[in-house]
Amino acid sequence: MSSSQQIKYILPEDKIPTHWYNIEADLPQKTPPPIDDTTGQPMDIEKLRMIFSDGALEQEMTRERYVKIPDPVRSLMRQWRPSPLFRARRLEEALGTPARIYYKYEGVSPSGSHKTNSAVAQAYECKKCGVKRITTETGAGQWGSALSQACNAFGISCRVFMVRCSFDQKPYRKAMMEIFGGTVIPSPSNETEAGRAILAKDPNCRGSLGIAISEAVEEALKDPDTKYCLGSVLNHVLMHQSVIGLEAIEQFKLAGDYPDMIIGACGGGSNFAGISNPFLGEMLRGGKKVEIIGIEPAACPSLTKGKYAYDYGDVAKKTPLMRMYTLGSSFIPPAVHAGGLRYHGMAPQVSNILHQGLMKAESVNQLDVFQKAIIFARAEGIVPAPESAHAICAAINKALECKETGQEKAILFNLSGHGHLDMAAYLDYFAGKLKNYEYDEHEIAMALSCLPSCGNK
Ligand SMILES: Cc1ncc(COP(=O)(O)O)c(C=O)c1O
Repeated sequence: MSSSQQIKYILPEDKIPTHWYNIEADLPQKTPPPIDDTTGQPMDIEKLRMIFSDGALEQEMTRERYVKIPDPVRSLMRQWRPSPLFRARRLEEALGTPARIYYKYEGVSPSGSHKTNSAVAQAYECKKCGVKRITTETGAGQWGSALSQACNAFGISCRVFMVRCSFDQKPYRKAMMEIFGGTVIPSPSNETEAGRAILAKDPNCRGSLGIAISEAVEEALKDPDTKYCLGSVLNHVLMHQSVIGLEAIEQFKLAGDYPDMIIGACGGGSNFAGISNPFLGEMLRGGKKVEIIGIEPAACPSLTKGKYAYDYGDVAKKTPLMRMYTLGSSFIPPAVHAGGLRYHGMAPQVSNILHQGLMKAESVNQLDVFQKAIIFARAEGIVPAPESAHAICAAINKALECKETGQEKAILFNLSGHGHLDMAAYLDYFAGKLKNYEYDEHEIAMALSCLPSCGNK
């Protein structure tokens, strides 16, 4: 570790945001609504009530710029918010860059990632309308851990369909969910029609977020006391994560600085939108111009290689159609260790922002990600989650570009979670067992050829 002083910007507890920020109020073109594949029309909200809580749907549709955070949610958030903003002085020194690197650290939450920000908000809305049971999907296990804990806090039972390859890679995530009272089912499973259909075709299927979503939605549809919660993708989830960027704006005031560039890893888009939307909103309202970059794995490149089209959010086609950058809902990504980034689509709101040219997208490969994660960990003393390490990788690459050009840019990235339960991935990396997966052009072309005609004429 180098001798440079690490600087931490901490806000007092009363600076936890009182309201979420909703970028829909400021976007020049609003995000297209989901459509019903049976009618080709915008989805009837009454049909969605079978899946989601009333509160989640209200937040999903709102165009208000600021939405009040309910007191019980804000009160729970006091356990980990405001999260710290660090100036990565030791990393800057290790890289020899003139760039100023900052990171917002969401690994301080009880689940170890930003996911808890939305989990408590969604579990609260379910509690308010008398829901007894919540079903969900989880990739890396971060969302499942966060929701299990939030359900426990509000006395609701929780069933988590965990993508099979992550279930095998991350046994301690299962333990964490069970500690909080969650039930964990590897997906695809024999417990749902969707899971059984997949297993009949491929008994060794490694699973995907799209399959796990199908299973969780199916269970919610079958029981009026059960609702489904999604850990990313939807407008309301992205809005819950806006607390990250709202706090960062205040912390940059303490630092007397402002980011030139904001970087976030993109799975479904929630931590990325959480850190960048409040800054993008300032820019759209006449504030300083910021370069915003979403980073995705080269093995699952929805933003950089996908098509902007209406597609299903899951494999079994149980969700409404969403307009998004997609690789096709039947695409099953390779088993990269960043399980939370293995999603065939992208949040419709993030997709809309990219489509309008208000952000850029880049992809990075797995070996580069782990190499940069270790440089970061050795400099800053924090082991990052493999998902978050995608943002680190891009931030380091940008800082090295600044070194070459002599540019003194302020780079902010979101360190969305710690990697304490991802040690198997690091061991595999050190043992030389990890490899880069280029995206499979043929498989993606096949999946894209099956895009629904509805909405895409
Ligand atoms: C630590 C971490 N970062 C990022 C992600 C990606 O999700 P999202 O794009 O919704 O932030 C995940 C998903 O599981 C995650 O666990």
